[in-house]
Amino acid sequence: MSKAYIEPPTVDSTAVFKNDIFKGKVLFCTGGGSGICKAMTQAMKHGASAAIVGRKLDRLEASAKELAAATGTQCIALQADVRNTKQLQDAVAKTVEKYGRIDFVICGAAGNFLAPISNLSENGFRTVIEIDTIGTYNTIKATLPHLRASRGSYIHVSATLHYRATPYQVHVSAAKAAVDATSAVLAVEEGPNGVRSNVIAPGPIAGTEGIDRLTTKGSPTALGAEPTGRAGSVQDIANAAVFLFSPAARYITGQALAVDGASEHLRAFQ
Ligand code: HXC
Repeated sequence: MSKAYIEPPTVDSTAVFKNDIFKGKVLFCTGGGSGICKAMTQAMKHGASAAIVGRKLDRLEASAKELAAATGTQCIALQADVRNTKQLQDAVAKTVEKYGRIDFVICGAAGNFLAPISNLSENGFRTVIEIDTIGTYNTIKATLPHLRASRGSYIHVSATLHYRATPYQVHVSAAKAAVDATSAVLAVEEGPNGVRSNVIAPGPIAGTEGIDRLTTKGSPTALGAEPTGRAGSVQDIANAAVFLFSPAARYITGQALAVDGASEHLRAFQ
């Protein structure tokens, strides 16, 4: 495929959206200690305070400090495994105790590794379902009363790999398909309460665990060439999250937004 089109450089959402659009709002983000979800705390650059949640407290605390310093807003680090409802409820309670509300939730905590069905143990399959799917359910249940109160918005971090069959990814594919369905049902049920729910499906994003594993040389999951001539950046996902949380997206709910530079369409063509 010819590469006549050169993409513009990645921009920060603050170059497009006003920097105070989320002033007074509060973000609760699972998986926010690293990678794509850490970048998705971008709402902080527009005035939101945040709580980032994960299993590794040291990493979370370092990230919270870094994010607060970079944005000038508050960020707290809360240790919780999304599989543990009590830990999650405690994290939500601490967030509300600190900030008084929750407006935005990013369900981002996820597990992933490459394994063919023939070598994947029942516990391996179950573990990813429990982190990705049940962890999403647990996060919704723990936060929904607060999102009803604030007429808030969810973003679930999914993937594109389950749109078609991706070898060695049956556990993640099953888990993310369920996440997509959960988000859509949530949008329909909670629309009357003013709560929105959408999915962001990142494509190949440079420098992330997901892409490192899926594009390992010789891997059966190796992705094709990207139509834009490059992988995406975590900033591209962060910018999409700012848009979906913003009032500009007020009539967008129950949707899955692939942020993948059309890579999935090209994969279908190959
Ligand atoms: C086969 C594996 C395995 C592997 C774990 N298991 N890793 N099986 N190959 N590489 C199996 C174990 O053998 C065990 O089953 C079961 O899974 C549970 O493993 P534990 O290590 O005990 O569980 P836990 O400590 O909870 O950690 C599991 C995990 C972790 C969270 C999945 O291994 C992991 O991958 N962490 C990295 C998280 C990560 O990469 N996040 C970013 C996701 S990116 P048995 O039968 O032995 O008891 C993403 C995007 C996808 O999701 C799209 C990309 C484009």
